[in-house]
Amino acid sequence: MEFKNKIVLITGAASGIGKEAAFLFAKEQATVIIADKDEQSGANLEMKIIENGGKARFIYVDVANKNSIDSMFETIIREYNHLDIAINNAGISGIPSRTTDINFDNFNAVMNINSTSIFVCMQHEIKQMLKQGKGVILNTSSIAGLRGLPNSLPYVASKHAVVGMTKTAAMEYARKNIRINAICPAFTVTNLFKPEFMDSISEGLSEKLKNQIPMKRFANAKEIAEVMLMICSDKASFITGQAIPVDGGVSA
Ligand SMILES: NC(=O)c1ccc[n+]([C@@H]2O[C@H](COP(=O)([O-])OP(=O)(O)OC[C@H]3O[C@@H](n4cnc5c(N)ncnc54)[C@H](O)[C@@H]3O)[C@@H](O)[C@H]2O)c1
Repeated sequence: MEFKNKIVLITGAASGIGKEAAFLFAKEQATVIIADKDEQSGANLEMKIIENGGKARFIYVDVANKNSIDSMFETIIREYNHLDIAINNAGISGIPSRTTDINFDNFNAVMNINSTSIFVCMQHEIKQMLKQGKGVILNTSSIAGLRGLPNSLPYVASKHAVVGMTKTAAMEYARKNIRINAICPAFTVTNLFKPEFMDSISEGLSEKLKNQIPMKRFANAKEIAEVMLMICSDKASFITGQAIPVDGGVSA
């Protein structure tokens, strides 16, 4: 088993896509580091994975705070002294509004959590992977990292930044045996994207969004997590610097 005993960090692993990825990696016998600011859900997931015979460790992190990220990596290096795979996945959607109505602090909050955190995490991860001579990083962007999305300017800006950072870092460290990619999901039903919430903003909005997807449906979190596993595996050994859509055909 390729992932057996590999140390896999997943931020934002207490819910949604990250949680499904945690289950999949644990099933492959990896040691999964569940990093999240939701302590209750993170601890529950750790317990569930261990009860099912897997290896997991919950570490609290608030990715909006550099000190918190620094301290998470101190813990990881102290306890494992190794990091094979890092999935920088924690994110928020922000408050839907037109560009002129966006509050400055809300803009910065989305940029901090979705983008700046990826810069800070990647610095730690790449330094450790350079020592090891090997590593894989996967950043969660979005289809909103590849195109515009009305009423979501901070989110779109933050996810485009993720793609830019991914491509640049991938080019810098490709010769050092470190692969860095981004995954770009379209609408996936999780706590972050709830069709019923869309309909509460505007009646029939979820149906309109669905109709923009050639497959005429939303994704489920497992479908995205399966692709994460694939991109992090040796099957993808020649793939780096890519922003990979998993989007039911939206970007076709
Ligand atoms: N759901 C979608 O439609 C969709 C589409 C494209 C991309 N994405 C991206 O996928 C990633 C995962 O989202 P999801 O849909 O699974 O959402 P989710 O809300 O189910 O999970 C996000 C997780 O991130 C954690 N988190 C949020 N802010 C944090 C912080 N400051 N510090 C630490 N943890 C924090 C939350 O506690 C939660 O566990 C996000 O980056 C999101 O932007 C989601």
